[in-house]
Amino acid sequence: MVATTSTGGGRTDAGRPSTLLTHIGELVTNDPAADDLLGAIADAALVIEGSRVAWVGPAADAPAADEVVDLGGRAVLPGFVDSHSHLVFAGDRAAEFAARMAGESYAAGGIRTTVAATRAATDEQLTSHVARLVAEMRRQGTTTVEIKSGYGLTVTDEARSLAVARQFTEETTFLGAHVVPDGTTPEEYVALVTGAMLDAAAPYSRWIDAFCETGAFDGDQARAVLEAGAARGLRGRLHANQLGPGPGVRLAAELGLTAVDHCTYLEDADVDALRGSGTIATLLPGVEFSTRQPYPDARRLLDAGVRVALASDCNPGSCFTSSLPLCIALAVREMGLTPAEAVHAATATGAAALDRDDVGTLVPGRRADLMVLDAPSHVHLAYRPGVPLVAGVWVDGRPVSGGVPHPL
Ligand code: NIG
Ligand code: FE
Repeated sequence: MVATTSTGGGRTDAGRPSTLLTHIGELVTNDPAADDLLGAIADAALVIEGSRVAWVGPAADAPAADEVVDLGGRAVLPGFVDSHSHLVFAGDRAAEFAARMAGESYAAGGIRTTVAATRAATDEQLTSHVARLVAEMRRQGTTTVEIKSGYGLTVTDEARSLAVARQFTEETTFLGAHVVPDGTTPEEYVALVTGAMLDAAAPYSRWIDAFCETGAFDGDQARAVLEAGAARGLRGRLHANQLGPGPGVRLAAELGLTAVDHCTYLEDADVDALRGSGTIATLLPGVEFSTRQPYPDARRLLDAGVRVALASDCNPGSCFTSSLPLCIALAVREMGLTPAEAVHAATATGAAALDRDDVGTLVPGRRADLMVLDAPSHVHLAYRPGVPLVAGVWVDGRPVSGGVPHPL
């Protein structure tokens, strides 16, 4: 792994040595008190004590630590916070993607194909599939991930999907209201989702979500689901305005949800509602890439003062990428974000979209969840699209993937 030098000295935080990461070409702190959006420090250093960041600043001023890691001019960023994914599934829908690239359009009904495969999978198969995808994400710099259910759609299959997700993250979301399964009416199904299914799902869930869209759930049904979840202590987030204009974004703003996701088709009233609400708009450009829909207008949202997060939406139907570097490159190339805005959206604002203040920012006291880039600055994430630039990932103050093979 990384080349370390032991300098001796006392042990800290339950016996773990302190670590100094130094010769960081650019350290992105996302410090909200800084003058620039990223709180970037050139020629920087960072000290880790236990699972936390203990110090950041110019390398020349760095305090001593038990171990020293020389990063040779590489950039260090907070780990990505991927606030929207659907990793608990089985089966493959590559043929659907190929058909879209040949001119078919995306429709919500494809979800049922994955539901059948997911119900047929064992718990062990689902768990090992999620483990593979989480490892794939981590290699690309993601250190916090939200995972939804939504491909079970029975009481048992939703609860077990969430139990599987819980093995990998605290950020689990009950999405029983993904689509109405075959053999039931929308009314019967909403009653189930807000009743027995919620009872079974709640112990494994922090969040509740619904797919508010033509072909899935209308505004009243989504409201009923979110209110039932809130009554059980689950926080709300919503899929909205993905396939066309609709009531979802305004509903999310009215209910004061933490985040509303997709936001591809926005009317002026939607932007106005978001502006006043504090609800974060989470944009998922991998979906537009994979469905050939227009990209959401991120610039319009930011210029209106709406906070924008970027997430992967990794799922087998509308977007099967686990890569936040790809989403950043798309947001810069296709959606008018600067590289700094895109990185901030995938780190600090991603954390805010999960109501988290312990991740997404590298300042003293926050979790030492970070990535080392094999590049001198964050700009390279968009400048070098498709290149595996993440050279190392640290979670809770420990290196978990990658290495630093040679000086830049
Ligand atoms: O976020 N929009 C709803 N759910 C997923 C897609 C699900 C699927 O097609 O399997 C999404 O895009
Ligand atoms: Fe989604």
